[in-house]
Amino acid sequence: MKYRVLDLFSGCGGLSYGFECAGFHIVAGVDNWEDSLVTYRANHKGSKGILLDLGNFDPASLHKEVGDVDVVIGGPPCQGFSLSGKRNPNDPRNKLYKGFVDVVKEFRPKAFILENVPNLASMAQGKIKDAIIKEFSELGYNVKYKVLLASDYGVPQNRRRVIFVGSIYNDNYEYPTPTNNDDNRVTTSEALSDLPEESVDDGTINTQVPLSDYQKLMRKRTDKIYNHVTSEHSEQTKKIISLVPDGGNYKDLPEKYRSVRNVHIAWTRYNSEKPSLTIDTGHRHHFHYKFNRIPTVRESARLQSFPDDFIFYGSKTSQYKQVGNAVPTLMAKAVAEKLLKHLKENS
Ligand SMILES: C[S@@+](CC[C@H](N)C(=O)[O-])C[C@H]1O[C@@H](n2cnc3c(N)ncnc32)[C@H](O)[C@@H]1O
Repeated sequence: MKYRVLDLFSGCGGLSYGFECAGFHIVAGVDNWEDSLVTYRANHKGSKGILLDLGNFDPASLHKEVGDVDVVIGGPPCQGFSLSGKRNPNDPRNKLYKGFVDVVKEFRPKAFILENVPNLASMAQGKIKDAIIKEFSELGYNVKYKVLLASDYGVPQNRRRVIFVGSIYNDNYEYPTPTNNDDNRVTTSEALSDLPEESVDDGTINTQVPLSDYQKLMRKRTDKIYNHVTSEHSEQTKKIISLVPDGGNYKDLPEKYRSVRNVHIAWTRYNSEKPSLTIDTGHRHHFHYKFNRIPTVRESARLQSFPDDFIFYGSKTSQYKQVGNAVPTLMAKAVAEKLLKHLKENS
């Protein structure tokens, strides 16, 4: 019997996917953004994708709809945490975090995972983090937290996330040991070099053989390419970015070009020999390490460790946002495997 999981603020389901790969059954993903749920439902066939505003809902009705669960996971948007550090339940910014707490109160899962941006741990001199720990401790959970780096777990991206883990049993949950370090992190070229420079129609066979173990992993279940539509940049943009070398940035540009875009980081090119920077949700700031364009949705998905058979739906803008919002699946899987171990040892 698999442990049953409910994913709150699920988006397209990066976190869910990692938990599935680790051997959990995801009962449902909940989000108020229908686009992301279309992707969610298509890629999580055994799970429901429930459209719900988690800032205004009835936890008991949700419980009735999905049944009991063993684990609640999710990443409430960080605006949901009051900067004052005082948990004023009437503060509208607190409503989404409160939605997560209310679900835990209603379902009483054996464990929960609350994921967020890393500076949540340091915001308001650590008071937010302390408030989270106190709140769940009062509900009977042993809570710990740690900031994890995705590229430590085979993800070709230096993305950091804080992971709170709560357990009704004890505080013995062990965070996953890194599998990669500076000597063997997966690089952007290892992640992307088998994908073509130009757009391809959905379902086109990738005729390039995989050039790295990572590419083999991403293509394990399909050699078809989806979501690989390149962006049309202006001639000026193409000319300027062509002056930035592999791994370079605005500092490599002649002075007159540096301020063509509002922000300097807008002229950053990935380094082919390193994991990428944290991918954005479609700001068009970071360019391919070799091509004079931003990454496609599929390339962004590769940098988030979504395999090639995980297909994104909605407009291109929406797809970029869904991918950019996600927890990298390999990092989610590493966290989930340790939770599985913890649950098996204690229940
Ligand atoms: C950072 S993303 C979650 C990404 C997801 N954990 C993953 O790994 O793919 C946050 C999600 O919260 C959702 N969200 C924001 N406000 C919400 C609300 N009031 N009710 C439900 N979901 C909401 C957004 O639509 C977005 O998909």
